[in-house]
Order: sequence, then C-alpha cells, then structure tokens
Amino acid sequence: MSKNTTQSFEAVVSDILNNEDFNKLNNELHHGITRYEHVVRVAKTTYRVGKLFHLKNNNQTTRAALLHDFYTDDEMKDASKTAKLTIHPQLAYNNAIKYYNLNNIQENIIKSHMFPLKGDKPKYKEAWLVSGVDKIVALYEMYRYKASLLINIWALFLFNIIIYK
Ligand SMILES: [Fe+2]
Ligand SMILES: [Fe+2]
Repeated sequence: MSKNTTQSFEAVVSDILNNEDFNKLNNELHHGITRYEHVVRVAKTTYRVGKLFHLKNNNQTTRAALLHDFYTDDEMKDASKTAKLTIHPQLAYNNAIKYYNLNNIQENIIKSHMFPLKGDKPKYKEAWLVSGVDKIVALYEMYRYKASLLINIWALFLFNIIIYK
C-alpha cells in the first residue's frame, strides 16, 4: 500500500483503531496471527479493491470490514467450534453498535460475512465484496501463518523429544 493510500485508509478508520475494546483483538489468536492483524488486512484489502472499482461508499464499507470480527473468544467460550463460526458475526455486530452508528449495508456486511454458512445472506454488493475478501485473506493467512505456526510447534515438540528422551 502506498504511503498516501495508507494515510487515507488510516483517516477513515483511526477512531476504530484507537478504540480500547477493539484493541483487545491484539490478544486474540486468529489464523495463526492476531485477530487485529486479520481484520486490518481485510479492511485494507477492501479499501484498495473499493478504490479500484470506484465504490461510492468505500469508507463505510471499509469500516464495516474492519469491524467484521470484533469479538473475543472469551465472549463465546461455552460455544462449540462449529457454533462459533456461525454466531460470531452477530456478536461482532453487537460489539460494533456499542460504539458506532452503522447503516443497513454495514449491518449486512458484518452479519453476512460468513456466508454461505448459516446466518444472514449478503444483500448488497458491498457485503459480497467483504465476504469474498475475508475468505481470500483467511486462506492466505492460514497458508502463510497457521501452517508455519503448526510446523514450528511440531518442530519444538520433536526437539523436546530428542533432547529429553
Ligand atoms: Fe469472521
Ligand atoms: Fe474474518
């Protein structure tokens, strides 16, 4: 991202990035990195694609992209792994509206980002965009970070066996 684009991106989302509750995502593991890093990557990618296609409400779309996974694991510790996949969009929306006024499109972006899993369906092109970007970013992160994290854990495990056997 160029310096100018980074600056204009930050101007659009700075209040969210400085939100104390939102910064708790820095302590959450997500695809082998932090959830904060994940949502920022999704938001930046959305912003760039939106700019490329001259999306009229690119700023609102980018803000919703940043808020799409605004939840902590602690908030749903009793839920099963599968349930977590389907309930976290509603949780992210509930957390987002504590701080920000969201329009119908932004609400749909957050609530439908896990489509086609159970839950809301994308009703606007902006929601299709964020849902698609989220999936591509997730695949990239799982390949780039989660796989290497697992390899490192296994290497450490094998190393311990060799050292302490
Ligand atoms: Fe999500
Ligand atoms: Fe996500």
